[in-house]
Amino acid sequence: MADEKFISTGLRTLITPEGELRVTLEDETIGDIAPDEVVIRVEASPINPTDVGLLFGPADLWRLEAFSVNGRPGLRAPVPSKQMSSHEFRPRIGKPLPVGTEGAGTVVHAGANAVDMIGKTVSTMSGGMYAGFRRVKAGDCVVLPEGTSVQAAASMNANPLTALCMVEVMRSEGHTALIHSAAASSLGQMLNRICIKDGIPLVNIVRSEEQVKTLQSIGAKYVVNSSAESFFEDLKTAITATGATLAFDAVGGGSLTDTVLRAIEASLGARQTAFSRYGTATAKQVYIYGSLNVEPTVLTRTYGSSWSVGRWLFLNFLQKAGPETALALKKRVLQELSTTFAVQYKGTLSLNDVLNPENVEEFAKRATGNKFLVNPSL
Ligand SMILES: NC(=O)c1ccc[n+]([C@@H]2O[C@H](COP(=O)([O-])OP(=O)(O)OC[C@H]3O[C@@H](n4cnc5c(N)ncnc54)[C@H](OP(=O)(O)O)[C@@H]3O)[C@@H](O)[C@H]2O)c1
Repeated sequence: MADEKFISTGLRTLITPEGELRVTLEDETIGDIAPDEVVIRVEASPINPTDVGLLFGPADLWRLEAFSVNGRPGLRAPVPSKQMSSHEFRPRIGKPLPVGTEGAGTVVHAGANAVDMIGKTVSTMSGGMYAGFRRVKAGDCVVLPEGTSVQAAASMNANPLTALCMVEVMRSEGHTALIHSAAASSLGQMLNRICIKDGIPLVNIVRSEEQVKTLQSIGAKYVVNSSAESFFEDLKTAITATGATLAFDAVGGGSLTDTVLRAIEASLGARQTAFSRYGTATAKQVYIYGSLNVEPTVLTRTYGSSWSVGRWLFLNFLQKAGPETALALKKRVLQELSTTFAVQYKGTLSLNDVLNPENVEEFAKRATGNKFLVNPSL
C-alpha cells in the first residue's frame, strides 16, 4: 500500500528550565508506518484526573494565562521553585510531553497486516490522544462493533478496567467487601454498578450530601459523607454491616486513609471479647490509587497488628494478573459498555477549547459529573 502522510496537530505540555509550564499545539508528521501499525483519526478522548495532572503538573493554576505562539493559542503558568527541584518533576523539565491517556476514533490508514481495520471505530489507551492523528500498534486497539459511538468507546479502558481490577484484588487477597473514596466519581459509579450486579458489599465515601444522593439514586446501599460530624461512626457502622477490610482511596493525601483504617479496626475491635495490647490481627489494606488531595498522607498507625498501605495502579495489577485475566475483563467492558460502563459527559472541547483558561477552570475541578471529552478533529 502506498504510504500516506498525516500532519497531526496535538497538545504538548512542557516545563521550561526557566520555571514556566507551557501547553501548546505542535505539529507532527506521521510518515511510514510498520505492517502492524494503524493511524487513528482521534475523535473522542476523555479528560481524566490523570490527564489534568500531566497537563498542568505542579504549575500555579491561579496564575494560568493564555498566550500566543506562532499565531496559535497556548497556556502558560509559573512553576514554584520548590517543585522545579523536586525529584517528581525535575525529570520532565525540557521535555514536551504528549497528553491524553485514552480515546477512540476511526482507523484511516493501516500497515499491511492490519488493512481490515481501515474505517473501523477503535479505542486505545496508547497515550498522546489529544492529537488529530495517532499512530499505534494495531494490537493495542479494541475494534468496536459496528454502530458503537466514539463517545461510548472513548473511556472504555482506564476507569472500567480499574474498577474491575479492584474487584479482582478483593477476591485474590481474600477480602469479601470493598470501601471506596471519592466514590461518586465516574469510576466510582461504575464500581457501584459492578458491585450491585455481582452482589459485592461496597462502602462508598463521598464528601457532600449531594453526592450521597447521586449514589443512592443509582442504587448504592452504603454511602457515607466525610464532611458529616458523624462520619467516623457512620463509616464504622457501614464497615460492620459489610465486613469490609479492603479500601481503595483516590484522595490519597491528608487523613482519609488513616480514618478508614481506624474505622476498620474499631469495627473489628468491637467484636473482640478479650483485650489485646496489639489490637486486632485481621489484615486491613488500603490502596491509594489517586492523588485528588496532593498533601502528604497522615498515618497514626493505630490499627492493630496487621495493616498495610500501598500505592496501586491498575496497569501493574493487570500485568501481574496475566493476559487471560486482562482479556476477560476487557471482554466484560465491551459487553457492558452501554450499561455498567456508560459515562455521562458534560461537554466536548476542541484542542483550541482546551487552551482557553475559562474551560481549564471548569475541567480542572475534577468534580462529580464534570467530565469532558476532547475531540481533536473538531
Ligand atoms: N491508579 C489507577 O490505576 C487509576 C486508574 C484510573 C483512575 N484513577 C483515579 O480514579 C479517580 C477517579 O477518576 P474519575 O475519572 O472517575 O474522576 P471524576 O469522574 O473526574 O471524579 C472525580 C471525583 O473526585 C472527587 N474529588 C475531587 N477532589 C477531591 C478531594 N480533594 N477530596 C475528595 N474527593 C475529591 C469529586 O467529588 P466532588 O464532586 O465532591 O468534588 C469527584 O466525585 C481519580 O483520582 C483518578 O486519578 C486511578
